[in-house]
Amino acid sequence: MTKNTAPTLQRGTLPPATANLADHELHARQRLDDNAWAYFSGGAGDEITLRANRCAWDTLPLWPRVLRPLAGGHTRVTLLGRTLAHPVLVAPIAFQRLAHTDGELAMAYAAAAQGAGVVLSTQASVALETIAHAVQPDPGRGPLWFQLYLQHDRGFTQALVQRAEAAGYEALVLTVDAPASGVRDRERRAGFRLPPGIAAVNLAGLQAPAPVEPHPGQSALFDGLLHHAPTWDDIAWLRSITRLPVLLKGVLHPADARLAISVGAAGLIVSNHGGRTLDTAPATAQALPRVVRAVAGAVPVLVDGGIRRGTDILKAIALGASAVLVGRPVVWGLANAGAVGVAHVLRLLRDELEVAMALTGCATLADASPALLDADAPLNDDAPR
Ligand code: FNR
Ligand code: LAC
Repeated sequence: MTKNTAPTLQRGTLPPATANLADHELHARQRLDDNAWAYFSGGAGDEITLRANRCAWDTLPLWPRVLRPLAGGHTRVTLLGRTLAHPVLVAPIAFQRLAHTDGELAMAYAAAAQGAGVVLSTQASVALETIAHAVQPDPGRGPLWFQLYLQHDRGFTQALVQRAEAAGYEALVLTVDAPASGVRDRERRAGFRLPPGIAAVNLAGLQAPAPVEPHPGQSALFDGLLHHAPTWDDIAWLRSITRLPVLLKGVLHPADARLAISVGAAGLIVSNHGGRTLDTAPATAQALPRVVRAVAGAVPVLVDGGIRRGTDILKAIALGASAVLVGRPVVWGLANAGAVGVAHVLRLLRDELEVAMALTGCATLADASPALLDADAPLNDDAPR
């Protein structure tokens, strides 16, 4: 494909009576085979964290405020120097062509059309340049960020970062919560494998690391894979090879949040990888306020994990997040109707967010403070008593 040829997308039609993201999930289950479903929907271990993410948003009450003026309200936020139409980004999800032949391309077009940001996975199944060329001309699009997994070959990693920069990505999102994959029982039971024709195309040419044969008594993990895992020192290296801001994704502990600031992270994404890495890690709604307190406004804090409703987004903002990322639901939309399905999911979230704001007396997201979630919390200075 050349730069000037617009790629074409398949036409998609939404299944009837799709009113919310849970409906999208039900339909997607029918569309996807067991292999893809195990990959997209599964979590780690007993999926305790996967469930906890949802449960934590559900059990936070919203305390509505009434009779406040709402006319002229909006969902705009500022993030890393840009004003966004609303605070939603599409989370990095690998291998989206498993859900739909248009994969990440449909995802990116739909996100741009809805003013949502895109974080493209290192393990995307479409070339990173194709995605950037497709969405860059859209003036209403949200941020375009590249999610980075540091590869064992740091030279290859550097070249990948340079490609992302050259293509026009505006930030790097270094994922730090997966030095090893979680214990994925669902995937193992389903015998998950990538079908022919779907691959991490942006990693083409990367040589497998020299096999480390653990001696008796050694561990394949500690004496093998983890020799290449990133450490805090690599953040300085990464910052030295790029002019792009580097956000860290997968920070839960406030002590790590403070370390991240000290090494120059430009932002943090509070995430437990959608419950796919460490099972029994805390729900992100529990970690978020602690990280926000630790960061004390030094950099923006984003959050993902279990965001399924506009009310969840409002709660995240009330707890101090600047924006949220949405993972599985956009994949359900993609599976259901390609770009149309993704756009529908994002539209539903934004519409629901507006309703949630109206019903809690928030004309803007700056009005959403912890007092929305706790009637005993101190009020915003400018809020009516
Ligand atoms: C992910 N996630 C992820 N994260 C990342 O940094 N790089 C990646 O390649 C992937 N790939 C991936 C695949 C699949 C199938 C899932 C479900 C998740 C994690 C993702 O970015 C995000 O943190 C979670 O998906 C957010 O939780 P919800 O919205 O899915 O509940
Ligand atoms: C996953 C990896 C790709 O969660 O991040 O499947």
